[in-house]
This record gives sequence, C-alpha cells and structure tokens, in this order.
Amino acid sequence: MLKLSKLATAVALVVAGSAAVAGEVEVLHYWTSGGEAKSVAELKKIMQGKGHTWKDFAVAGGGGDNAATVLKSRVVSGNPPAAAQIKGPAIQEWASEGVLANLDATAKAEKWDELLPKVVADVMKYKGNYVAAPVNVHRVNWMWANSAVLKKAGVTATPKTWDEFFAAAEKVKKAGLIPVAHGGQNWQDFTTFESVALGVGGTKFYNDALIKLDEKALTSATMTKVLETFRKVKGYTDAAAPGRDWNLATAMVIQEKAAFQFMGDWAKGEFSAAGKVPGKDYICAAAPGTANAYTFNVDSFAMYKLKDAGAQKAQADLAASIMGTEFQEVFNLNKGSIPVRLNMSMDKFDDCAKTSAKDFVSTAKSGGLVPSVAHGMAIKPAAEGAIKDAVSQFWNDDKISVADGVKNIAKAAATK
Ligand code: GAL
Repeated sequence: MLKLSKLATAVALVVAGSAAVAGEVEVLHYWTSGGEAKSVAELKKIMQGKGHTWKDFAVAGGGGDNAATVLKSRVVSGNPPAAAQIKGPAIQEWASEGVLANLDATAKAEKWDELLPKVVADVMKYKGNYVAAPVNVHRVNWMWANSAVLKKAGVTATPKTWDEFFAAAEKVKKAGLIPVAHGGQNWQDFTTFESVALGVGGTKFYNDALIKLDEKALTSATMTKVLETFRKVKGYTDAAAPGRDWNLATAMVIQEKAAFQFMGDWAKGEFSAAGKVPGKDYICAAAPGTANAYTFNVDSFAMYKLKDAGAQKAQADLAASIMGTEFQEVFNLNKGSIPVRLNMSMDKFDDCAKTSAKDFVSTAKSGGLVPSVAHGMAIKPAAEGAIKDAVSQFWNDDKISVADGVKNIAKAAATK
C-alpha cells in the first residue's frame, strides 16, 4: 500500500513536471518572404519537437518597421509576446524599460559567453545580463547579379569599383534590361546608401559619418561624392520601384528582368528558395569598393518577462534552441546568413556564405567590420529613423540638390 502510494506520488510528480515543461511560445517576427518563411519554419519545428506550442506572430514588412510598431502597442498594453525579433541598440532601449527577461541561467548552462564573439554578446546583454538571443550574422554590403543578364548585356567581369559598375549598368540598359532592381522603403534606400558610403568613402568615413554622426564628416566633400554616386545609382532603377518589397526586387534579378541588386544576404534566401545556384545562376560580390569591409547585421530575439511558468520554460527552451547547433545550421542555410555561434562547421554552406564567414573574421582583425545603420545595428532608433528619412527624400526627389541633401542628412543626424 505504502509502495503504491509512493508510486502514485512519483507518477503525479512526473506528470506535474512534464505539464510544467511544455508551454506556449509566442514569437513576433517579420520573416514572411519565401526564404525567410522557410527559415523561421525550422525554429517552429524545433520548438514543436520539444513539445511546445508555437504561436506565430508574423508582421509583414521587410526591415521590421511594422513589427516594431505592433510590438510597442502589445508591450504598452501589458501583453508582450515571449520573444520579438529586435536588434542592436533597440534591445538596450527595451531593456531599460524593465520589460525584458533575464536569460543568464540559459546562457550560463549553454556557455554563450564562450560561443559568441564578444561584440555580439555585448549587444545581447543589458547591464551584464543576457536579455536577447542572437540568431545569425547577415552581411549587408553585397551586390547580387544575374549571370545570364550580364552575359546578354556583354558584361564580362563583375564590377569591383563604382566606375566599373556604372559602365556595366550602361551596357545592361542598352540591352533593354533593368540595371538595378530596387524597392521602395526607406531601409532599402539606406541599404544601398550605406554600401555607396562605404565604397566611396571607406571604413573611416563610414564610421565617422554614419556611426559617430560627426558633423565634419557628414558635411565633407566625401559626403558630396557619396550623394552624387548614390543619385547616379538611382538613375539605373526602374520607375516602378517606389513601394516595391525587397523580395520582389530580388525576384526581378532571379527572373532575368534586372541585372543587379544591392541587398543583404537575406536576398540569397530568395535565390536558394527559387533553386538558384551561386556562381552559376547568380553572382554574390561585395558592393563596389567594399571588398575589404563588412557591414554586419545580427538578427536576434529579445525575450519579454512572462508570468506563466510553462511559458517561461518554453521561452528558455527557445533561447537555448536559437543558440543550438541544429538551429544555427539549418536556419542559416535557408536564410542566407552565417551562424553567429563560433566554431560551427561551414561544410554545408555555399561559397557566398564561406566568403562571408572568412571576411567576418578578417575584417574584425583589420578594422573593416562595421555595424549596419540601415539594419538597426549602430545608432539609436530616433536618429536612425531621421537620417533614413532624409536619405530617402533625397533618393526619391531628384529636385533636391546634392548640397541640400548633404545639409538635410547632417541636420537629421543631430536628432536626439
Ligand atoms: C533585415 C533583417 C533580415 C531580413 C531583412 C528583410 O533587417 O535583419 O533578417 O529579414 O531585414 O526583412
């Protein structure tokens, strides 16, 4: 009898234990394009495999502006999701509101401090405690090109300088095709802008003007040259670009309608999802003049404080899964990025990813590794939003002179 009741107690404990183990995890993200959706589905699969319920909270809109707005309203109303895809200084802003969960127990058990580059770990921590889990490293300063289109236009070598690029673009135009596929949100304009700034001005200029927001650099002759080059790129886009999503611009390159796109390597997720092979169907190359530099963009999930014990457990499992080897490999193979976790094998990755991994390490040593402003890695959201708008206005309105463009951007950079 005694034995039986002991057994019953033991069973009850196990049942109670397993009930507390499974929980619901609500994840806010903006990964809705073909390649992105395939990538996030892998995380869902892993979480479901651990017995948790995945509540998908997808807010469409590349770059995440829409998602950020929705997130704010959910947190303000006291009902945050378990995890939200936010990054860079925005993590610190959310943490300072006191709404993020402390992930130190998971981070310690999983040895995050040893498995992450310090620059990345620092961004995931607030006052020394982990509050977010990093997913990947995207490189932003890429130029994508369709091999067949280049061939048709008689472009025999991938342009390495802006002069070579404009010569190639001219040939594509003459062949009756669109030289540059572009879309119409301010973050897309800025993605091109920061690659032009890096290519024309170099790393020091990029750091001074766009990261330190130094007025002298922002109003320098180099900045004038950057805007002139930027406007020239615009001249090779099609008239239907405004309002177009980034992945539809990538599709124009995939479908041989356009030659080039300046976009981070999430574009590769679209090429991969369409069954295209790098080096054969398409080319990945550093944007002109930026081969020795690397604008990085680390996706991450910040975790919000939750009350329910099951949800807390699911959240901790989500954090651990994100940094796990299984997820780091399969997600990044689909997403176009590289693992953020150190010492991962790159065997299954393509040449673009291998180049990215190699350049990430070499630019970290040479000083060429810089955070992407377009993708929220560098400056506080208020100043970032203001300079993105100023750059977009210049891009979209050819009547704004270069001199005024320079002035407007410098003024926007002073936004507190
Ligand atoms: C970036 C994000 C990427 C990618 C892209 C388009 O900001 O880091 O993961 O999804 O936007 O949505």
